[in-house]
Formats: sequence, C-alpha cells, structure tokens
Amino acid sequence: MQTLTNNRFTVGKGIKLIDDAGVEYLDGVSGTFNLSLGYNHPHVVHKIQEQVGNLTHMSSSFTEPYVNEVLDHLIEYAPNDIDAGWMRDITGSTANECATKIAQKYTGSTDIVSLYLSHHGQTQFATGISGNAFRRKRFPNSSAANAVHVPAPYCYRCPFKSKSSECGYQCVEAISDAIDYASSGSVACMIIEPILGNGGNIMPPLGYFQRIRKLCDENNMLLIADEVQTGIGRTGTMFASELFDIRPDMITLAKGLGGIGVPVAAVLMQSRLNVLEKHEHSFTSGSNLISVTAAKSTLEVVSEPGFLDAVKRKGILLESLLQELAQKYPIIGEARGVGLMWGLEIVGDQNEPDTPKTNAIIDRAFTDQHLILRSSRYGFGNVVKVRPALTTTEEELVEIVDRLDSVLASVH
Ligand SMILES: Cc1ncc(COP(=O)(O)O)c(C=O)c1O
Repeated sequence: MQTLTNNRFTVGKGIKLIDDAGVEYLDGVSGTFNLSLGYNHPHVVHKIQEQVGNLTHMSSSFTEPYVNEVLDHLIEYAPNDIDAGWMRDITGSTANECATKIAQKYTGSTDIVSLYLSHHGQTQFATGISGNAFRRKRFPNSSAANAVHVPAPYCYRCPFKSKSSECGYQCVEAISDAIDYASSGSVACMIIEPILGNGGNIMPPLGYFQRIRKLCDENNMLLIADEVQTGIGRTGTMFASELFDIRPDMITLAKGLGGIGVPVAAVLMQSRLNVLEKHEHSFTSGSNLISVTAAKSTLEVVSEPGFLDAVKRKGILLESLLQELAQKYPIIGEARGVGLMWGLEIVGDQNEPDTPKTNAIIDRAFTDQHLILRSSRYGFGNVVKVRPALTTTEEELVEIVDRLDSVLASVH
C-alpha cells in the first residue's frame, strides 16, 4: 500500500509529531483542526485512562448521566437560549444530519439552504448539503438532500464584484431569490459555518449574520451554526456564534470537542427543538464513555479561568505575525481569520489564485521545515490554513511562522 509520506509517526507530544527516527514535526494545523488540546494533554489523557480502566462502553440507554454533564457544561456557554442537546453521534457529518432532521421534523418543511464552499461532512447526505459539487461526483444520492446552495460571503473574490466599502449584501439578497425560485417552497433551515473552514477560512463581512438571522425569521427557517471547526475555543470564545452574534437555533460540534482527537459530536438546541425520538437518530458508538469523557475533560480544560483569554491573546499574536508575512510576500493576497483559525490566500501577479504555489508551500513546509500545514481543496484550492492547537505556546507560534517565512522565501 502506498502511503502519503515515508514517515511513521509514533509519538505525539504537545503540538509535535515525532517519527520512529526521532525526527520532530511541528503541527501547525492540529491534525485536521480537531486536536484542540494537542496530541497528549495530560488532563484528558488521565481522565480517559481512568475511564477505560473502569468502563469503556455501555448502551446509550445508560450513559445519560454522563452525557448530561457534558451538555450542561456546553449549554452554560451557548447563546440564544440554547438549553438542550443531543449526543448520539461521533462525527460532525451525522451531527449535521441530526440538526437538519430536527429542523425538518420541527418545521414540517424539507429544504436546507447552505453556502457554496461550505463543508458539512462526507456522508452522502452531508456531501449533498455541502457547497462543493466535486465531492458529489459519482454519488447520486447526495443530490437527494433537498439542498439549495447559495453564494458564499467570499469578500476577497466577491461573486457580485462588490468592494467591501460599497457592499450591499447582495449575497444575502441572493438567498431570498434562491428561496423564491430554486427551493421547493418548503424550507426548513439554513446551515452555516461561522467561518467557512475548508472553503478557505472565509470570514463573512460585519452585519452578515444579523441579516441571515432576519432572513431566517422572515422565512420561518431555523438557523444552524455548524461549529465543528469553530467551536470549543478555536476563535477565542467557546463558540464563534457568540463572537459574531449569530443567534443560531442549533449548534453542531465535533472535532475540537474531543480535545486530543477522540471522536465525539454534539448538537445543541433550544429545548422546543428537542423533538427527535431516540430511535430516529442514534449510533452504536454515539455517547460511548471514552468519547463523553474526552469531551468532559476537554471542557474542563477550556473553561479553566484564563484559558480562553490566553487563546485570544495568542490569536492576536498570530494575526500580527501572519499580517507581517502578508506585507512581506505579495503572493499572500490576504491573511484572514481570528483567534487560532487563519488562512493565507495565495495569489499570482494579477491576484489570480495560485494553486501550484499553494501546494508547493504545503509540501516544502513538510519536507524542508518539518512543519505540518494544510491547504484548502475547495474553491481554487489556494488557501494555506494555519490552525494550531489552543495549547500552542507563544514561542511555538513564533516558530511556526518563522518556518513558514522560510518556506515563503523559497517559493517566492
Ligand atoms: C465545518 C465542518 N462540518 C462538518 C464536518 C464533518 O465532520 P466529520 O469529519 O467529523 O464527519 C467537518 C469536517 O471537516 C467540518 O469541517
């Protein structure tokens, strides 16, 4: 079998991966943005080991007391009167399915509005509601998701050619048109990532989410914030919904909730939306005790006094370092992000997307600098993502950007 690299990584320590030859690699993207606390956070490791020693699994009929502890903790931070939850999934894809099923059952409507460039998962359904057609190729059932795709608020390459100073939120207007002309007339919800992660770290303009909320209210649609990437402190607040004042009816979570990469997911909702019967959405491993323990102990760490403030401070440092790089290298068309969630849009002389250079940056970072980065495959595939673990130290942030600087100098 072919492998992606010749390295065989055997140890994960903090934000480092170490291979069997003892060579250390700095992970600038926390796995696939799911290692919110790095590879081996001692508190989470200890709690999981303890749990494994006692009881690793029992039927979800019996796990409720454990699950409720996690949900109560999450709800403490949740915006917009969200006060209930569902934890019978282990992946973000099916958590999003869960939320959209809830929306369909609650509203009695069918369609789901989602953005171009969005990523909501890779089951056929989640692929169907995601805004990237290339993943649907050859999988006809993904078209059965009743999705209505609408333009993304991609200001750097505005689909309506607006300049930010004169933005008339035409991308929001276009959603109204799509509801009128492209939907079945029966729309249950809109699902939206606060920052389009895989789409290229796309940050909507100020005022966008308030307009989306209004549009949902006017059309009796529920608003689902897919916080699989942005949740659990990634942007410096527990939920990005709080940071951007999104006021969603539901929030979906996965990735960072597992702290050190343990698969776990959750759907948070206002209790009026708690309409699913258990048999309508449950998986054998959903709410298993290892996942629930990982979530509980991760939340204990993230809610320690000062933890999120430190993420905010580190985010400001990362921002200034990346903006310096953007000043230095014209191939960075834009550095955009917040907290520890950043993307660098790589461009050519005419600001056109430069995908080969983007790929060269990722490859050279790995081979020459032992720095792990990821690029966005969506859109033009020309965004370098920088999203280290929330536990990354300031020195490590400087080290990540120094190594990236050397790579940019070599491809420039
Ligand atoms: C925003 C978002 N939603 C959902 C998913 C799907 O999560 P999972 O891979 O756990 O199914 C992802 C995964 O990349 C994601 O980034």
